Amino acid sequence: MNLPIRPRRNRKNAALRALVRETILSPSNFILPLFVMEGKNEKSAIRSMPGVFRVSRDLVVAEAKRARKLGIPAVALFPVIADRKKDKRATESKNRDGLLQKTIRDLKNAVPEIAVITDVAMDPYSSDGHDGLVKSGSILNDETLPILADMALNQARAGADIVAPSDMMDGRVGYIRQALDKSGFTDTGILAYSAKYASAFYGPFREALDSAPKHGDKKTYQMDPANRREALREVKLDVAEGADMVMVKPALPYLDILSDIKTAVDVPVAAYHVSGEYAMIKAAGKLGWLDADKAMMESVLSIKRAGADMILTYAAVELAESLSS
Ligand code: PBG
Repeated sequence: MNLPIRPRRNRKNAALRALVRETILSPSNFILPLFVMEGKNEKSAIRSMPGVFRVSRDLVVAEAKRARKLGIPAVALFPVIADRKKDKRATESKNRDGLLQKTIRDLKNAVPEIAVITDVAMDPYSSDGHDGLVKSGSILNDETLPILADMALNQARAGADIVAPSDMMDGRVGYIRQALDKSGFTDTGILAYSAKYASAFYGPFREALDSAPKHGDKKTYQMDPANRREALREVKLDVAEGADMVMVKPALPYLDILSDIKTAVDVPVAAYHVSGEYAMIKAAGKLGWLDADKAMMESVLSIKRAGADMILTYAAVELAESLSS
């Protein structure tokens, strides 16, 4: 057949495929999320996230060491707060000797090479289970900002390298930046969860932290999954307010957003491959309906291809292991 152009020639063997590969996934692209709980040498399974555990501080250190050895540069910490410590104003988040603060200090002592990222939002500490302050059923924006700034300061003081506001209140990045700078934390970075959608894919995470909203949903602050242009508006605002990096969340169902943002801003772009995305693949794997390891690698590769410079994924360790073998 007269067919001068044959794309298959570039796929003929593994060597050629390696030569023309456009996206290379590396452990240095990963951020490992970790759930930390009170106790010593304790670990508790999360029903909907096979292979992921809530672990005590000593085991967080062990996990971080393992991650570091595999070339993973950062962890993102999420504390499990006891119900009796939760209140409407997330007061426990100001505790200088809180679970999260102790964990950050442990990590900085034991594994100083790994970057520590902490989440800024009220939900793990709030008796209402919302990211902002609730009054008569509404989530108050401006009244929430000082609470978030105190929380971020308390994380920076303990040694967090990067604080990551995931609350979606308006103006929080600028407010937190100012608060950090005023207290001398000019080197603490901000990774803004800029395009964070009101998603059904956070279910397993909320189970892990027991942090689901007690009333209503998060649709008045998290974005409508139907919207694409609005993500650019959010991202540009956060960059103007001083975000060092921005994030899209969830990841795989939002690759169009990721791709748009990558071309619209010049700061690094992160994507959060969230709990529900992880759970789906693990569940299908358990049922024998697909090869979970391959599907996980393909998902995370696709997230990088779409534009993510870094990816928060619960599969970071298993992916790093398979990339280095
Ligand atoms: C807290 C927060 C959530 C996630 C990260 N930070 C939950 C939420 O907004 O309800 C979800 C992460 C995941 O599902 O893996 N605001």
